[in-house]
Amino acid sequence: MNLQQTILGVPFSNPTVLASGIMGITASSWRYCAENGAGAITTKSLWPVEHQGNRNPTIIATEHWTLNAVGVPDAGPEKAKEEIGDFMKDQPIPLIANIIGLSPKEFASIAAVVATLKPDFIEVNLSTPTFLKLRGKLFAEDGNEAGTILKAVRKEIGPIPCFAKLTPNVPNIGEIAKACVDAGADGITAINTAGPGMAIDLRSRMPILAAHKGGLSGPALKPIAVRCIAEIFEATGGKVPIIGTGGIYTGEDALELMLAGASLVGIGTAVGTRGIDVFRKICEEIQLWCTNEGVWEISDMIGGMHKALLARGIKGTSMKHAP
Ligand SMILES: Cc1cc2nc3c(=O)[nH]c(=O)nc-3n(C[C@H](O)[C@H](O)[C@H](O)COP(=O)(O)O)c2cc1C
Repeated sequence: MNLQQTILGVPFSNPTVLASGIMGITASSWRYCAENGAGAITTKSLWPVEHQGNRNPTIIATEHWTLNAVGVPDAGPEKAKEEIGDFMKDQPIPLIANIIGLSPKEFASIAAVVATLKPDFIEVNLSTPTFLKLRGKLFAEDGNEAGTILKAVRKEIGPIPCFAKLTPNVPNIGEIAKACVDAGADGITAINTAGPGMAIDLRSRMPILAAHKGGLSGPALKPIAVRCIAEIFEATGGKVPIIGTGGIYTGEDALELMLAGASLVGIGTAVGTRGIDVFRKICEEIQLWCTNEGVWEISDMIGGMHKALLARGIKGTSMKHAP
């Protein structure tokens, strides 16, 4: 069974991608993911200047969900240049550089730095809950604002393929994705964490996270990710690649996001819960399921739900079908 695909001219040995923010920013940790079967890695979000994160505790994890309020800490562009430069020397797998800023100018500034390092894709983080603290809203809540950022980034990165990373916290993620593509995004990454959520310690009666609220990830996020990816696939006519991310724990979870429309699948929280070799395990589970079902090309799974609906004469997953 063939797990390989070429997406926007970049060959991927399998569809698993380390999601942003999970393994820090060192070439050695990214190589460790590659050795453990990752098809590609995404850097944590890179700011144009050094950025302080939040106070501890920043993460609470359960079997079903995780809340994080790490606050997107970053040592700044010099460190990014050093580590990405090191990784690119022998580059075992494709690298996706995730960037963040608070204005079009800031995004353009870090995009210009990152472009010189020649990543395979640039992922534009328009959706981290940290934006709620720093500017009161997410760029990904508004198609025009998202488009302005993407145009500013495009001017700096030339032909490097660019993905817009979106939030599930909108009523119209399909429209936002379409606005991003119209503004020049080559692909969409969906989804970032949802919420934010809150957890309270019963004895102290205090919020567990020092920041009180945190973005929700892990298995509980998967059905929302599936719905968002399905809507994005429909709104963009299945014409742009989607890196489907959110709650993937097993190979079958990954396949479900692919049936909704994802070409690649981001693995975040599950790296902590299943261990670093989660990439290899998920690939083995995908292969086992596909082989048993007589699926020989992973690309045959992409958007499969939409084909199944059409075959039954149903056009799209509109809200008509909502409960
Ligand atoms: C601890 C932690 C840190 C994260 N940091 C970032 C980040 O820097 N940039 C970003 O775009 N997403 C970040 N994310 C979001 C993930 O990349 C991913 O979109 C989300 O967690 C959903 O996937 P999952 O359920 O597989 O974790 C972070 C998530 C976690 C749990």
